[in-house]
Amino acid sequence: GLSASAALARRPAATGAQLRSALPLPEPYRTPLPIPPVLRPAGDGRYTIAQRETVMEILPGVHTPMWTYEGTFPGPTIESRRGRPITVTHRNELPVPTVVHLHGGRTPAASDGYPTDLILPEGGHHAGMHMGNDPRAVVSHVTRDYTFPLEQRPTLLWYHDHRMDFTGPAIWRGLAGLHIVRDDAEENLGLPSGPRELPLVLADRAFAADGSLAYPALDPTLQERPGVRPAYLAGVQGDVILVNGAPWPVHEVDAARYRLRVLNASNSRHYELEARTDDGRRLDLVQVGADQGLLAAPVVHGSLPIAPAERYDIVVDFSAVPAGARVRLRNLLGEGRTTDVMAFRVARRAPDDSRVPPVLCTDLPTWRRGDAVRVRDLAFRAGRMGGEHGWLIGGRPFDPARADVTTALGDVEVWRLVADVHHPVHLHLVGFRVLSRRGRAPLAHDAGLKDTVSLRPGEAVEIITRFEGYRGRYLFHCHNAEHEDMGMMANLEIT
Ligand code: C2O
Ligand code: CU
Repeated sequence: GLSASAALARRPAATGAQLRSALPLPEPYRTPLPIPPVLRPAGDGRYTIAQRETVMEILPGVHTPMWTYEGTFPGPTIESRRGRPITVTHRNELPVPTVVHLHGGRTPAASDGYPTDLILPEGGHHAGMHMGNDPRAVVSHVTRDYTFPLEQRPTLLWYHDHRMDFTGPAIWRGLAGLHIVRDDAEENLGLPSGPRELPLVLADRAFAADGSLAYPALDPTLQERPGVRPAYLAGVQGDVILVNGAPWPVHEVDAARYRLRVLNASNSRHYELEARTDDGRRLDLVQVGADQGLLAAPVVHGSLPIAPAERYDIVVDFSAVPAGARVRLRNLLGEGRTTDVMAFRVARRAPDDSRVPPVLCTDLPTWRRGDAVRVRDLAFRAGRMGGEHGWLIGGRPFDPARADVTTALGDVEVWRLVADVHHPVHLHLVGFRVLSRRGRAPLAHDAGLKDTVSLRPGEAVEIITRFEGYRGRYLFHCHNAEHEDMGMMANLEIT
């Protein structure tokens, strides 16, 4: 029942390469929380992003070379409106090929960032580069236009690198940014907004003695060869928790409601978040939205698990916290310094006309089991790929040339997902609902429309979705970025 699930949720994810920084770590709650800059359009519905190497100061006084979108980490936030298409031109000034995927986007296949649809770097072809065996991949660009119709619910999306075999190191080095879709209906709800709406991008990292980011792989720039598998298995985790790119930051708030739009952009770390005052009082986390947008009604959590790539839209009310007091956002799954995430310092009393309405959204899809034309069983498990250890779906590692799941546009399907260890499973293009966990009702945090679901060790989860939007070749995969790079990805053909 719930208590067994709760115990499982508290068990840390299978530990990966647990990296310790070689540098002294800063005191927590000293660095102010940065807010990623909002990207200005270059014209009507047109944006450009340069991908480039940038030396950043993540730890105070330490220089860290990173791969960035527009020189920042996280990259600049794109703010868009539902139903208003945009085009984002990415220019690759990095030394390696890249691919951009808008996670959670309802995107035509040509702009979805298939892992072999590369933006080649300046200087063209890299000898021996892994192109997959898809003829579509033989395209050489230094820039590429991605077009997003944005016919989708308002929510927090994120864009990140998705190159075949190298997504983990590319995200680790900094290739991730936010994209917020808005619409009038959501804005009219009266949820906290303006400076009281905060994006929070969680990401753990480790730092080598020279200030560079530690990653237990050869430098990917020296590793452009298929079959070279880095020395990690369960996923990479660092000992420094960054929020919006700052280590254990602090943010000054009014004694009022805040809307926290949380993304777990970590490669493989799971968090369970809890907000507590220094004198031990726990604040409710009032969830108003899931990966794919608003819930039907708010769900109140004492603590909230968040798997890699999941987003939770939560409202926290600081009005009962005395001015001068501190509220810490903690990670119940952490150990040592990774139990700390960030802090809020309540600076002053202030008027608050925001609200959390009892009804948030009335048009969530209501697919029922009986609507499904097909039920599929998909096992996410370790196995052999070639002579090496890999991560497999249905016993097979990713192959761009093979259609794993073929479905027809408009079909409703139930997928029964089973896992050996912790796997956050993500489907491109569609939102889904969680039907059951371990044969029982879904948990409180499974509410709403999702695009990523956390399968905990040994767990079976059923999801239901309708494949709508566009035809073409999409993906589903584990969003433990190292699992994904080691084969745990499959093709989803919509015909
Ligand atoms: Cu976050 Cu396949 O992506
Ligand atoms: Cu996995």
